[in-house]
Amino acid sequence: MADKRFGTKGWTPEQLYSLVGKTYLITGANAGAGFEAAKILLGKGAEVVMLNRNEKKSNKAMDDLKAELGANAKVSFIKMDLAEFSSVRDAAAEVNRTVSKIDALICNAAVAQIAKQELTPEGHESQLGINHYGHFLLVNLLFDKVEQSKGRIVVVASEGYKMGLKTIQFEDLNFDKNYNPMNAYCQSKLAQMMFAYELQNRIKGTNKEVEVYVCHPGASRTSLINEKASRRDRILFSILSLLPIVQSAEKGSYPEVMCATEDNLKQQAYYGPTGTMNWSGPVGECKLEPFVLDKTVLTELWQVSEKETNCTWNF
Ligand SMILES: NC(=O)c1ccc[n+]([C@@H]2O[C@H](COP(=O)([O-])OP(=O)(O)OC[C@H]3O[C@@H](n4cnc5c(N)ncnc54)[C@H](OP(=O)(O)O)[C@@H]3O)[C@@H](O)[C@H]2O)c1
Repeated sequence: MADKRFGTKGWTPEQLYSLVGKTYLITGANAGAGFEAAKILLGKGAEVVMLNRNEKKSNKAMDDLKAELGANAKVSFIKMDLAEFSSVRDAAAEVNRTVSKIDALICNAAVAQIAKQELTPEGHESQLGINHYGHFLLVNLLFDKVEQSKGRIVVVASEGYKMGLKTIQFEDLNFDKNYNPMNAYCQSKLAQMMFAYELQNRIKGTNKEVEVYVCHPGASRTSLINEKASRRDRILFSILSLLPIVQSAEKGSYPEVMCATEDNLKQQAYYGPTGTMNWSGPVGECKLEPFVLDKTVLTELWQVSEKETNCTWNF
């Protein structure tokens, strides 16, 4: 679907002005699209706080960013493993204590195509636990700070949302009976999107000035399919990544940077590359399948997520 709002090239970082004075939080920013998003935002003078699980990789990422952008690049790191709710709570407490404002919280981190069912320490299927529940809790804990900042929540989703079951398998959320790496990943990304759209619905009924955006990075060359994926999937993705319609991690970061910074975007929408199969091409608005907005599923998922993460929302 063509979206000509930003010209034939679509949205690119050329649209950005100075971001001096802005603060962005990015989960999973030591690699892939999150790292590239951090680089673009820092390059425009913003402050970036990375919420990553691995200290060594994070220090290397910060060194690499400073080597490229200069030692004054305002990048820092708070340790957070989305799989462990105590880690999410500790990281959120540190953010609330040390970060004065959040112009956008970019929920970018994810695991994908985990070959065999794995459970998080909380007992959740790992993709649902990390990608959805971890972020659900994090956004809950940081929401007040985002609100005080009149900031945004950006959810990085995936075209996979329409490749799996196309709904939430409430009767077996962990896929105990029918585990399949693709279906479990797709469910987790659909759950992230449903969370975002339900959060928009809930904000609408209040006077809270928080915007929520959903995007996807198309097909990008990153470390997403790694040693946790099956040999077959790793081979398949390494062959696919040679195709010219698979894009760089840098281009994969454009939709999340756009959603974190661009004015006058529609919220109940879905942004990403709009070329063939939405794998690459000009960044703009993509078609959103109606099943994502199914109110019955949105409501049930919200209730289940509150229960599983032991958090409540006051609106
Ligand atoms: N690449 C694609 O083609 C594609 C397609 C559709 C959607 N996406 C989405 O794009 C986003 C970015 O992914 P990417 O492709 O850039 O993958 P990536 O290179 O693997 O980056 C993912 C990041 O998430 C972090 N992460 C994983 N588990 C975590 C946890 N438990 N706690 C905290 N951080 C964790 C990783 O940290 P470690 O380095 O420690 O593992 C890494 O920094 C994801 O939401 C993904 O679903 C990507």
